[in-house]
Amino acid sequence: NKGNHRHFMEKEIYEQPEVIAHALDHYINVIENRADMVSGIDFARIPSLAISACGTAYLAGLIGKYWFERYARLTVEIDVASEFRYREIPLSPQSAAIFISQSGETADTLASLRYCKELGLKIGAIVNACESTIAREADAVFPILAGPEIGVASTKAFTCQLAVLAALAIGAAKARGTVTEDEVQELVRSLAEVPRVMGQVLNSIQPEIEFLSRELSKCRDVLYLGRGTSFPLAMEGALKLKEISYIHAEGYAAGELKHGPIALIDENMPVIVIAPHDRFFDKTVSNMQEVAARGGRIILITDEKGAAASKLDTMHTIVLPAVDEIIAPMIFSLPIQLLAYHTALYMGTDVDQPRNLAKSVTVE
Ligand code: M6R
Repeated sequence: NKGNHRHFMEKEIYEQPEVIAHALDHYINVIENRADMVSGIDFARIPSLAISACGTAYLAGLIGKYWFERYARLTVEIDVASEFRYREIPLSPQSAAIFISQSGETADTLASLRYCKELGLKIGAIVNACESTIAREADAVFPILAGPEIGVASTKAFTCQLAVLAALAIGAAKARGTVTEDEVQELVRSLAEVPRVMGQVLNSIQPEIEFLSRELSKCRDVLYLGRGTSFPLAMEGALKLKEISYIHAEGYAAGELKHGPIALIDENMPVIVIAPHDRFFDKTVSNMQEVAARGGRIILITDEKGAAASKLDTMHTIVLPAVDEIIAPMIFSLPIQLLAYHTALYMGTDVDQPRNLAKSVTVE
């Protein structure tokens, strides 16, 4: 049932404050009360962590990698499951591996899980469908509690996966003693803010998203740029746009711009820059200058501090509330999802059932 919404995707985008609150309720409690939250994975002892998944779930995992490395000082090996399963990665049996899957049935992700299990690693599964094969075969299951996701383009499952990964990374950091008790409290406080800030953003950005989407719907190609955790988010933005609007899009690390993609820049290709005012902001601004100098049209997605700090002429700047670094990927997902959704509406595509795609990919 779509309620008052035109599509399941729209409904699922607007449900995010509620479902994330539900997921966080489960995990924050766990972080605060038990450092050994992750029965099945002893984060204090493992030498490294492997993560694998497909599509959007993989991009959530990439953001998770930044968190596990930064907060828990754990080395993370990550790859898309279709590569991971065949790479013959020298993994230590003392390590743990986490597989992320909304459906819990994705063939390559399941094969990667079985491969790691055979090698003796402890297996964690971050899933939405807790009755799934991936959940059944894991040693530890971390539900994302997003409720059924019907739209083929993943939205609320992505941000719930991020919420769970953030909670696990904080739990791991606590267990490994790589952050102080005060830092844990601070990170947890930030996480708890997500539903409120999401609600505030969803209530306010619709008009500018519609205007920008009309512009995007006239384009053949769109480039997304970001640094740090905004880099996987740039790839997620591009994936979302291509899968439902069929407009060609690429997500790049902003620092890679001069290593190739800058050759594409002209007045016909909008560049969507995801840049919260974090430690990378100034570097990303200098990449934007390079785009502007070549006549590129920039759509900047930043926060209040970033908007005040960047003096650049953009085609448009979406200004989000300034939030702590750990929750920025969840908040910045919203304009990314809505831009794809509204662009697809202008293109007249089948938003919930895009051509050639299935919700669950159970063959290799
Ligand atoms: O069910 P899963 O999370 O394992 O699915 C993985 C991908 O197939 C999925 O995320 C796909 O990329 C989505 N259509 C993206 O919106």
